[in-house]
Amino acid sequence: MFKPNRRIDHSPTRVSVIGAGNVGSTLAQRIAEKNLADVVLLDRVPGKPEGMALDLMQARAIEHHDRLIVGTSDYKDTANSDVVVVTAGVPRKQGMSREDLLRVNAEVVASVVPMAVEHSPDAIFIVVTNPLDVMTYLAWKVSGLPKSKVMGMAGVLDASRFQAFIAMELGISIADITAMVMGGHGDLMVPLPRYSTVSGVPITELMTPDAITRLVDRTRHGGAEIVKLMQTGSAYFAPASAAAEMVEAILLNRRRIIPVAAYLDGEYGLHDLFMGVPVQLGQEGIDMVVELNLSKAELNALHTSAKSVRENIDRLAAMNLA
Ligand code: APR
Repeated sequence: MFKPNRRIDHSPTRVSVIGAGNVGSTLAQRIAEKNLADVVLLDRVPGKPEGMALDLMQARAIEHHDRLIVGTSDYKDTANSDVVVVTAGVPRKQGMSREDLLRVNAEVVASVVPMAVEHSPDAIFIVVTNPLDVMTYLAWKVSGLPKSKVMGMAGVLDASRFQAFIAMELGISIADITAMVMGGHGDLMVPLPRYSTVSGVPITELMTPDAITRLVDRTRHGGAEIVKLMQTGSAYFAPASAAAEMVEAILLNRRRIIPVAAYLDGEYGLHDLFMGVPVQLGQEGIDMVVELNLSKAELNALHTSAKSVRENIDRLAAMNLA
């Protein structure tokens, strides 16, 4: 009655995820199950991405989607991706700062990005590997791509953590909470209470300064708190969700205004680094950096965070890696 059709269809949308670890595999699942794109999952460990892809393919009947998930160690299979997400690297272990990861992950990013660019020169690149801001800078340098096409995932995750803590504190639905977190993805990140709201009302009108300080602090250490609890491994559900949100904004050209690590060329008085700022994100990548009106204290905090990102860039340069 039906003729078997084993032709592999190449859907117009394809996302490659480099690194099939906890974040990468969860991200592949989210992208496929949200029906956003076919997914190519690549890892250097032979068999790992193939096994995960097959597992995800076997879930399709139950999850009701027809997206293809392919596992590979060959960059040729990533060809013509619309978006490439880089999660390859080593995650942070307990007691290890994101900066400790610098050298090992810099070597990974510097090797994987050019191979991915070679096969998908028109793709938009999202970096997830930590230390995030400096890895994004490095990815941009080695990619040769325009600044609008390379960005890092951190602000959406940090804002989502802040939103979670606000919702838990006030006992209010997460659906009514917005939050803005700027700066580097580290302990010096800059959650902005004035720009964080419950149905439009800034949390500065709803909480005591002490409570806000507590939540800001918890947000700043949101990743470390999870590392400490898990003992081995680090967060991956929320990071994968945050990366999927960015992928969706790009593929559906949603023109979302969300914080991502973007190249700064004078915005907020900062030059030649990647750091978390609100941007408009659509199918061309970053359409523009949104410049919020910051108070003196907020701007100072942003510059302090930028200083630590800059120090990491200088460290990379000293290692001849940037
Ligand atoms: N090429 C391809 N894959 C690589 C390479 C490489 N050169 N180096 C490492 N990998 C793969 C590993 O084999 C592993 O499968 O990257 C994957 C990393 O997965 P995990 O160790 O599970 O780490 P994960 O929790 O996913 O975090 C990945 O995201 O949030 C950040 O800090 C986190 O930098 C870390 C990254």
